[in-house]
Amino acid sequence: MSGYVINILIGLICLTGILIILGKLLFFLGVYPWNDGPYLIWRKDPARSITICWITAKRKASRLSWGESRDSLPHTMVSSTSRFHTVTLENLSLDRKYYYAIEEDLSRYKRGTVFSFHTASGKTSSCPAMFIAAGDLQPRDYPTFRSNLQLYTRINRENPDFIVQMGDTVQLGTRAKYWHYFLKLLPIMASTRPFLAAIGNHEHYIIHSARNFRKVFPYAYPAKNCGCHSVDTGNIHITFLDPYDGGFNGMNAKITAWQKAWLEYDLEKAVLDNAEWIFLVLHQPVFTTGEYANDVQMRNWLLPVLSRFDIDAVFFGHSHLYEHWVYRYGANGYVLNRNDIPGRNDIHFFCVGSSGARLESSYKVFTHKPYRLKKERWYNLKTEKSEIMQHVQYPWNKHAVSRSSHQYCQYPFTEEGVYESDPQVSYSTINKWFGYRYGEITLHYAKIHINSTACTVSIHYPDGSLLQGKDGTSPQIFTLNKKKRTL
Ligand SMILES: [Fe+2]
Ligand SMILES: [Fe+2]
Repeated sequence: MSGYVINILIGLICLTGILIILGKLLFFLGVYPWNDGPYLIWRKDPARSITICWITAKRKASRLSWGESRDSLPHTMVSSTSRFHTVTLENLSLDRKYYYAIEEDLSRYKRGTVFSFHTASGKTSSCPAMFIAAGDLQPRDYPTFRSNLQLYTRINRENPDFIVQMGDTVQLGTRAKYWHYFLKLLPIMASTRPFLAAIGNHEHYIIHSARNFRKVFPYAYPAKNCGCHSVDTGNIHITFLDPYDGGFNGMNAKITAWQKAWLEYDLEKAVLDNAEWIFLVLHQPVFTTGEYANDVQMRNWLLPVLSRFDIDAVFFGHSHLYEHWVYRYGANGYVLNRNDIPGRNDIHFFCVGSSGARLESSYKVFTHKPYRLKKERWYNLKTEKSEIMQHVQYPWNKHAVSRSSHQYCQYPFTEEGVYESDPQVSYSTINKWFGYRYGEITLHYAKIHINSTACTVSIHYPDGSLLQGKDGTSPQIFTLNKKKRTL
């Protein structure tokens, strides 16, 4: 064979490789050979509308029927020609049950299967609500299919009004098959109630900018290139942040000045609109003792903002474990900026890090080298002087919850209830500073009950039982009292 022919063959092989890589990166422009869905989201008033989503392998117009009785679906709507179908039903009655069917054979359900949903209550402080907060999902192989299936089934049985999710729904946002793994299971919990997700780093990926996430979940984004959004339902306001809209920054967030300003606008509006409960959902951990180092820059931007608007709780994921922190900005005598006012109330921070994804114990949480975190400057309110601090984050030890389990826990206190200074017990020197309470490496989800005066957050194992640590000594259930907010 001549050298000329060999060069052509090598060139063809290289070209094929490049085309395969491009095809995988841009899959929604090419092939998505499944019909998936349906799942619900909110784009408009949750009391008066619902948006139903599904995907078809072929680009086409697709039909949906709906009505107020399971036996009669007299209304019909046809989606625009696309693979990503979204139909918004509007002018619905508040607090009422409706039924719908998609005229497609879907990967999980046959054509004509009837689903139901319930519209939200109007803006009232007396109406109870319950929602689930779920963490990283990332179905990728048989063990994670099983854990995802178990969690989705359990969450559906809890019958929440809606579900929030902290990002990393998929293992790799650029690959069709990973979206299919997720979207085939999603209807188990999201065909009958809205699913509201934040963008994770696994949806974003380096050059991708979460385009597929925004196609799959067309929430009411306030900007074209950012995945932040927010929702008001009843007396609850929830803001979803996109920590990666500024581009790739390793395992840390990179948030644009635009989104930082939008967050303050969004929270201020919620306070002025008299939202009685305000929650923030984002993927990037505000605090963590997990595999990756704390994102000091994002945390130190966020803490004064959350304190100023006195929000109730923050939910995040990314570290595939559960952790709880209670922190009141400035209560320990330090603020980040000289003119900051100390917070009026505690804020609860929950890492709900795995509702199906591989646990942190599968990664380097036991083996990473101690991280010396980025140096930070805090202002001492008593001495009125700045101090430079640097914290250290150590790996976890294998303190099993029980002899037979693969669940590991961290309780950072001595028997006398003071913070343990031994790094073998307390895995980070930020624990005392930021009010670390408890951590456990286990599959879990959070349940948030809201009534007219209080909010209860409880954390649950996949079988629905309360997460309560070794010998039941750390029950994870907390009552948050309603705050009086002023600007
Ligand atoms: Fe993740
Ligand atoms: Fe992540």
